[in-house]
Amino acid sequence: MKSAPRHFLELKEIASAELRRIIDMGASFKRGEKLNGASRPLDGRALAMIFEKPSTRTRVSFEIAMKQLGGTVVVLTPNEMQIGRGETIADTARVLSRYVDAIMMRTNENQKLSELAAHAEVPVINGLTDHSHPCQLMADIMTFEEYRGNISGKRIAWCGDGNNMSRSWIEAAARFEFEMRLACPSELAPPQDAIDWARNEGATIVSTTDPDEAIDGVDCVVTDTWVSMGDTEAEKRHNLLSPYKVDRRLMDCAAKDAIFMHCLPAHRDEEVTAEILDGPQSVIWDEAENRLHAQKGILAWCMSL
Ligand code: CP
Ligand code: NVA
Repeated sequence: MKSAPRHFLELKEIASAELRRIIDMGASFKRGEKLNGASRPLDGRALAMIFEKPSTRTRVSFEIAMKQLGGTVVVLTPNEMQIGRGETIADTARVLSRYVDAIMMRTNENQKLSELAAHAEVPVINGLTDHSHPCQLMADIMTFEEYRGNISGKRIAWCGDGNNMSRSWIEAAARFEFEMRLACPSELAPPQDAIDWARNEGATIVSTTDPDEAIDGVDCVVTDTWVSMGDTEAEKRHNLLSPYKVDRRLMDCAAKDAIFMHCLPAHRDEEVTAEILDGPQSVIWDEAENRLHAQKGILAWCMSL
């Protein structure tokens, strides 16, 4: 009997040691090292990528990661697939499993990803849902540690919308053992089920509506767009979130050597001022680059290398 595929769906579903191994493999690829003596460890393997929402980083970094490791990719959008004409996700999973070695999906609904994973015979990777964005977190942890060393015991502040990225940061806090402080307006609060889960795992999670309190003395300040893909009521969100804009004053509440992170795409002078985004504390371009390296680790792990 075949063993169950090694899906990369949510950080909370993967043990800390495995997540650490993924980052270590990604860092090793970044240094140009071979994996088990192979410079093209994914030679002959294929990845299908299904995008229901736009993407720049995820799409390009996965494609280049596969190709640099010797594999190939097929990029699909539902409109050009039979999913667009009513073929089920389950049947699509069964069919794609006969052609490719892994499937990445970026979807509007978390349920679709779960259905894909339940019926695929190959690993399924979460390329972002409304719920979470775990691939981004692997790059974010790698980036933080390049600048500040092991993230365990450090303090990270999330300032803004309690969205999909905030959920993955909360899960990462439990898995990588750092303190997570979240400052969000009460109408856009971070997911309580994730906070409860992380606290139950022993993580320190502070949730407040006060950005000054959250950012006080932290090692890293993180934010994200105020209007995620699929969100409505942009004007209302802007009004609610304007006190959470990361600017010089807020950044100065953090530790002197704190770094600023953002998964991108960013909106200058909305969630963060251009001064901070483009300033010396910002590590956003390394963070974007590390999507490529971290995802090589994810691909190698999913394909059991
Ligand atoms: N950060 C991120 O996932 O970017 P894309 O939407 O461009 O893939
Ligand atoms: N929260 C954002 C992240 C984009 C990478 C969104 O879902 O649109």
